[in-house]
Amino acid sequence: MSETWHPVIAEADFPEEGKATTIVNGWYVLLGKVDGQYHAVNDRCTHAASFLSTGRIRRGAVMCPLHGARFELASGRCLGSAYRDLRTFAVRVENGQIEVQVPDVAPSMEELPISL
Ligand code: FES
Repeated sequence: MSETWHPVIAEADFPEEGKATTIVNGWYVLLGKVDGQYHAVNDRCTHAASFLSTGRIRRGAVMCPLHGARFELASGRCLGSAYRDLRTFAVRVENGQIEVQVPDVAPSMEELPISL
């Protein structure tokens, strides 16, 4: 599956709360900053598809606001392994612009992260 880099936000404008979001080709992307590094994951919880971007980021993990699952931003790993891990996206900073690498096609039903 081919992927393309897309700009998200200027590094200078990255929010102090440590997260930003974008939608590219139907992919919901959560961009988080942990220890000075940017990481991007699918912004949909693998339990019941809640938007993780409305949750809190603490100690390198985002907490789902619906039922409290925690996902490590750097790896997408579900801490405690209760649910599937999140898809991650590559991140880079080019000329002060934060970019994410996203598939060129919209997510399929298999990518919809619901595993009840
Ligand atoms: S929807 Fe995220 S833990 Fe249930």
